[in-house]
Amino acid sequence: MRSLIERLYREHTLAPDELRSLLSDCDATHLELINAKAREVAQAHFGNRIFIRGLIEIGNCCHNDCYYCGIRRSDRNVERYRLDKETILECCREGYALGFRTFVLQGGEDNYLTTERISDIIATIRQEFPDAAITLSLGEKSTEAYERFFHAGANRYLLRHETHNPAHYLKLHPQSMSLGNRLRCLDDLKRIGFQTGTGIMVGSPGQTVDNLVEDIIYIEKLRPEMIGIGPFLPHHDTPFAQMPAGTLEQTLLLLSIFRLMHPNALIPSTTALATLTPEGRERGILAGANVVMPNLSPVDQRSKYALYDNKASMGAEAAEGLRLLQERLERIGYTIDMGRGDYRPEA
Ligand code: 5AD
Repeated sequence: MRSLIERLYREHTLAPDELRSLLSDCDATHLELINAKAREVAQAHFGNRIFIRGLIEIGNCCHNDCYYCGIRRSDRNVERYRLDKETILECCREGYALGFRTFVLQGGEDNYLTTERISDIIATIRQEFPDAAITLSLGEKSTEAYERFFHAGANRYLLRHETHNPAHYLKLHPQSMSLGNRLRCLDDLKRIGFQTGTGIMVGSPGQTVDNLVEDIIYIEKLRPEMIGIGPFLPHHDTPFAQMPAGTLEQTLLLLSIFRLMHPNALIPSTTALATLTPEGRERGILAGANVVMPNLSPVDQRSKYALYDNKASMGAEAAEGLRLLQERLERIGYTIDMGRGDYRPEA
């Protein structure tokens, strides 16, 4: 186990069966070792600095029906909302004043949000904040829509593939969705020039070690600029309400594997990880993550964007709680970096 970890650290890759053993047989001692190696690599690339992104949840209306997601179409108990353009701009203004230089617009796949409307919002933010990065996380769109978003001034796009195994994909999503289209989207995004993020939920229902190996190999080939890894957490109004959450250990292991394989990738310590366990955010950073995404959404709407139960959105998860976040980072030897934090290819 130790020699596998050391080789992953040196060579940034392992054979599929080696990844399989790492994922199956990593005990607490080896988890600590791989977390320490990953942390060392993150520090070599980013120092003790953690990038922050202001997350604006622009709406929870969604025509998709993903079995894991708390804002899926079939959930009749969700109070639906959409932020209008002016409200989104207010969030950006507040975020900019707090020091954020990346805005992440995230929302459900909402037919009301046409290419036209989204492009208009992007162009307006781009004009008012020329020095800020605009990240989108709005799901699957047409090639043409992605091109228009890019030309309107968006820089980055987050779209987790969720799983690279077609049978597993079908366990997580209704028939109307396909892995093929998800992968087409990711190819488009990269080709168009977005800094592209993908990723998975750790411990999603039906996920096997072999599936994780496939995910790791897919991500190795895609070489995304950003990698989003968080535990699956059940939401009480979904078909997966009774399913167990992903574990802290498996999430930290995967974060470290991705850091060792992708030394300069932007890897967030996710809200889901912070929700899973009180020190989750810190544990993610100590396992090699280098980004956090505090919530910039209007406070009165935050509780409606519940992808899973008990989702953290206040305190150090909140944009207005930056001081608290800074204090918590300082306790583990890190500090907030106020820059845009663009992906920088290896020199
Ligand atoms: N638990 C954890 N993560 C979730 N997501 C959606 N639902 C859940 C859940 N129940 C993640 C998905 C999606 C991202 C926006 O949130 O991976 O891509």
